[in-house]
Amino acid sequence: MLKVKNINTYYGKVHALKNISLHLGEGEIVALIGANGAGKTTMLNTLSGVTPASSGSINFLGESITGLAPDRIVKNGVSQVPEGRQVFKGLTVADNLELGAYLRFCSRESKDAIRRDMGHIYELFPRLEERRKQMAGTLSGGEQQMLAIGRALMAKPKLLLLDEPSMGLAPLVVQEIFTVIERLRRDEGTTIMLVEQNAKAALKMADRGYVLETGKVILEGPAAELLENREVQRAYLGKDKKEIWER
Ligand SMILES: Nc1ncnc2c1ncn2[C@@H]1O[C@H](COP(=O)(O)OP(=O)(O)OP(=O)(O)O)[C@@H](O)[C@H]1O
Ligand SMILES: [Mg+2]
Repeated sequence: MLKVKNINTYYGKVHALKNISLHLGEGEIVALIGANGAGKTTMLNTLSGVTPASSGSINFLGESITGLAPDRIVKNGVSQVPEGRQVFKGLTVADNLELGAYLRFCSRESKDAIRRDMGHIYELFPRLEERRKQMAGTLSGGEQQMLAIGRALMAKPKLLLLDEPSMGLAPLVVQEIFTVIERLRRDEGTTIMLVEQNAKAALKMADRGYVLETGKVILEGPAAELLENREVQRAYLGKDKKEIWER
């Protein structure tokens, strides 16, 4: 579904992504893990066109999306849930969701279809429905994350890019959000690229994973293998050497 080949992305002289290649199959959940500054957000921003690559190619559903503007990429079926949620705090929950469907309104899609999809988001996240008239800025962190996911889903993506959805949230809320992510894949076949510092939780849910270090892919493979990999355990799963050797 997605084929990324030899991508290089720079911020001025900072070489943030170094010759990265990766792929995603339809219906897969793929985790992208790595420490602070490894290039995870840059990878998602490069895929969504926010931070274009200076070389390399991105192919999505058989078409090149390399160098397209972000709105064209959304139209092609890729939506991003940004790091730190970035909901429109001064707008209501319902308005935030409607904005997610902005390009569908522009292309004169039927308002009924958009309204039905909004109903579906409320079914996935009942707490958003209870708060639909509330300003997004007054929501809890978990609710804002739900809203950011709901807003991205309103564009009807085939590929959803999630940037650290668990950041700063209590374990129960993280569980709730991860359950919805699994449901999206199971019930709707949405393909998901999941960026997480919470490597263990992400790899438990994912089919495959990539490990980024200073802008390079240093490891890739089935999620179950990465979970067992000693380097990954030491660097990202919070296990010390002693614990690993005692296993
Ligand atoms: N706007 C920018 N201007 C200059 N350098 C940047 C910019 N954004 C990111 N970088 C640099 O690019 C590298 C990758 O950053 P990125 O935000 O992609 O990392 P990350 O893996 O998402 O980290 P985190 O886990 O902290 O979110 C870092 O060295 C960072 O300092
Ligand atoms: Mg980041």
